[in-house]
Amino acid sequence: MAILITGGTGFIGSHTCISLTEAGYDVVIVDNYYNSSPKSLARICELCGKDLKFYECDIRDKAGLQRVFTENKIDAVIHFAGLKAVGESCQKPLEYYDNNVNGTLCLCDVMRQNGCKNIVFSSSATVYGMHNVSPLKETMPTGGTTNPYGTTKYMIEIILQDIAKADPAWNVTLLRYFNPIGAHKSGRIGENPNGIPNNLMPYITQVAIGKLPELSVYGDDYDTPDGTGVRDYIHVVDLAEGHVKALDQMLTGNKGVQIFNLGTGVGYSVLDIIHAFEEANGVKIPYKIVGRRPGDIATCYSDPTKAREVLGWETKRGLREMCEDSWRWQSMNPNGF
Ligand code: NAD
Ligand code: WQD
Repeated sequence: MAILITGGTGFIGSHTCISLTEAGYDVVIVDNYYNSSPKSLARICELCGKDLKFYECDIRDKAGLQRVFTENKIDAVIHFAGLKAVGESCQKPLEYYDNNVNGTLCLCDVMRQNGCKNIVFSSSATVYGMHNVSPLKETMPTGGTTNPYGTTKYMIEIILQDIAKADPAWNVTLLRYFNPIGAHKSGRIGENPNGIPNNLMPYITQVAIGKLPELSVYGDDYDTPDGTGVRDYIHVVDLAEGHVKALDQMLTGNKGVQIFNLGTGVGYSVLDIIHAFEEANGVKIPYKIVGRRPGDIATCYSDPTKAREVLGWETKRGLREMCEDSWRWQSMNPNGF
C-alpha cells in the first residue's frame, strides 16, 4: 500500500517515513526542501535500508502533484508539509496562509481528482487556544488561536471536516501533536532548525554544544509548581508510531472524521526539562530567568485516552530517553545535516 508523505524530509515526517517502512507500507515523499535537504532524504533511505521514491515539489504546484499521483497508486496521504514558526507567522501571515491553507486546498483538490480520499493531517495542540484547562480533550472547543500559524491549523481542521461532510467517501484523521522532541536512536536524523531555535529542546541542545551561551527561561511567575511553563513533551518516534496506528485504523473501512491528541498526558516544566537533560547527559545548561514570551500559556498537556482506546497507541519513551536522543542527534551533528 503506497502512502504519500508531504513534508516527509522534515523533522516529524522523516521519523514517520521510517516507522511506516518498518510497518510494511510503501512510502512516496513530496517535499520542496524549504526546511529540509537532500541530506535528510539520504539518511532516511539509509535508515530504511532502501531508496524511497521522492519528488521535489511544492504542494501548491498542482501539476507537479498530479505527476506524483499519475506515477504512483497512492492509497492515503499523511500531510506534514507546512510552515511552523509561531513568531515568523506574525511577521509573514500571507506566506503562512498561502503555504499552509492554500497548500492544503491544492493537495486535496489533486487527491479528489485522483480518487484518493484518505488524509491524515498534522494538527497541533495550538488549536485548543488559550482558554481550555489541561488535560486537553478532543471534545473541548477549538479556536481562539493567537497567531497566524495556529489559525492555519484551526482553519485546515475546519476545511477538512467540511470536505468530509460534503463527500462521505473522505476519511479525515486530525492528529493534534503536543511538543515533539527527541530523535531517532541512530543519531542520524533529528530536528534541524534554521538559525536560532524557537523551541525549547533545540535551544537547550545548542547551549549544550556551545553554539549558544545560555538559555533564557521565559517567565518563572506562572501558576505552575515551579513557576515555569508546563508542556507535554513527546518523543518523535512515539509520535511517528502514532501515525502508523492512525493510518492502520483509517484504512480498515470508512471512518469519516476522527480526531486524536498525540501526547503523553504528562506535563513537565521548563526547569524539569533543563534538569532532566543535565542528568541524562552529564552536561550543564546555563540559564537565566527572563520575562514571559508573548502568547505563551502557563500549562498545556493532553488527555491521550482516546488514542489509547481507539488506536491502541500509547507512548513508550520517557523524558530521560527524549533528552538522551536529542543530545545524541545534536552531538553527532553539531551543524545539523
Ligand atoms: P519541518 O519544518 O521539519 O517539516 C515540514 C516539511 O515540509 C519540511 O521538510 C519543509 O521543507 C516541507 N514543506 C513546507 N512547505 C512545503 C510546501 N509548500 N510544499 C512541500 N513541502 C513543504 O516541521 P515538523 O516539525 O516536521 O512539522 C511537521 C508538521 O507538523 C507541520 O505541519 C507542523 O505545523 C506540524 N506540527 C509540528 C509541531 C512541532 O512542534 N514540530 C507541533 C505540532 C504540529
Ligand atoms: C516550551 C516551553 C516556553 C524556548 C510551540 C508552538 C506549538 C507547537 C509546538 C506547532 C514554553 C519555554 C521555550 C526558550 C523557554 N508547534 N521556552 N525558553 O510554545 O509550547 O509550542 O511548539 O504546532 O504550536 O507554539 O513550545 O518549545 O517553544 O516552548 O523558556 O528559549 O519552553 O516559554 O513554556 P510551545 P516551545
